[in-house]
Amino acid sequence: METFEAIEKRRTCRKYLNSPIEWEKVGNILLAGSMAPSAGNLQDWKFIVVTNKEKRRAVSKACLKQFWMEEAPVHIVVCSEPKKCERFYGLRGDKLYSIQNAAAAIQNMLIAATDQGLSSAWIGAFDEDELVKVLNIPKYARPQAIIPIGYPAGEPNKPAKFSLVDLVFLDNWGGKIVNVDLVMDYWSEVIRNKIIEAKETLENEGKSFGSEFLKKSKEKLNKLTKKPKK
Ligand SMILES: Cc1cc2nc3c(=O)[nH]c(=O)nc-3n(C[C@H](O)[C@H](O)[C@H](O)COP(=O)(O)O)c2cc1C
Repeated sequence: METFEAIEKRRTCRKYLNSPIEWEKVGNILLAGSMAPSAGNLQDWKFIVVTNKEKRRAVSKACLKQFWMEEAPVHIVVCSEPKKCERFYGLRGDKLYSIQNAAAAIQNMLIAATDQGLSSAWIGAFDEDELVKVLNIPKYARPQAIIPIGYPAGEPNKPAKFSLVDLVFLDNWGGKIVNVDLVMDYWSEVIRNKIIEAKETLENEGKSFGSEFLKKSKEKLNKLTKKPKK
C-alpha cells in the first residue's frame, strides 16, 4: 500500500473479528512505533503488548468500560517516560515533548496496521490509576494511549474531515488561500468546481442542460472527482 493510501484509509475501528492476527504484523507495527521521531531522539516510550483475554477485558474496563475493545486480539499500550524528557528539556520536555513523542509513535503504529490490512483505534479515554494497576506500570511512566488491533468486522464509520480551505493559512494566521485546489495542484478539483460553477450559472439563467448532455457531464464529473495521485 502506498503511504498516502494508508493515511487516507486509516479509520477508527470499533468492531473486530474474533480472530488472531499474525505476529509478524504485530512486530512490524511495533517497529513502526519505534521508528517515530522524538525530541533529541530520546525515544522515551515503552510499548506493552496485551494478548491475554482477561487482561484485555481489564484494560477495556479501565478504558471507561469501552468493552468493544476486548474483541481485538491485541492491545498495544503506549507509555511515555516524561522524566527522561524533563532531564533534557525541563517543563517543556515533561509536559509537551513526551506527549508529542508518544503521539508520533502511536500514529506510526496506526498507519502500519492499516498498511498491513489491519484495523485499529487510538484510545485516550481511560482511568489512569486503574490502567496502571492492571498493567503494573511504574510511577515514572505514564500510559498515553491504548491501540486495539485486529481484523475489522465490517466497514468502519468514516467521520467527515474538514476541507483544507478551512484549515490552511498562507504565510500568516488568517492568511486566506483563495483556491486551495490550485495551490495543491489538484487540477481535477479545479476543473470539477469550474464545471459545477458553469452548470449552476446556466441553470440559474434558465438554460437547462439537455438530458443526454447532463448524462455525459455526470459521467465526466464522476471521473474528475477522483483526486490525482501526487
Ligand atoms: C487523543 C485521542 C483520544 C481518543 N480516544 C478515543 C476513545 O477513548 N474512544 C474511541 O472510541 N475513540 C477515541 N479516539 C478516536 C477518535 O474518536 C477518532 O479518531 C475520531 O472520531 C476521528 O475518526 P477517525 O479516526 O476514523 O478518522 C481518540 C482519538 C484521539 C486522537
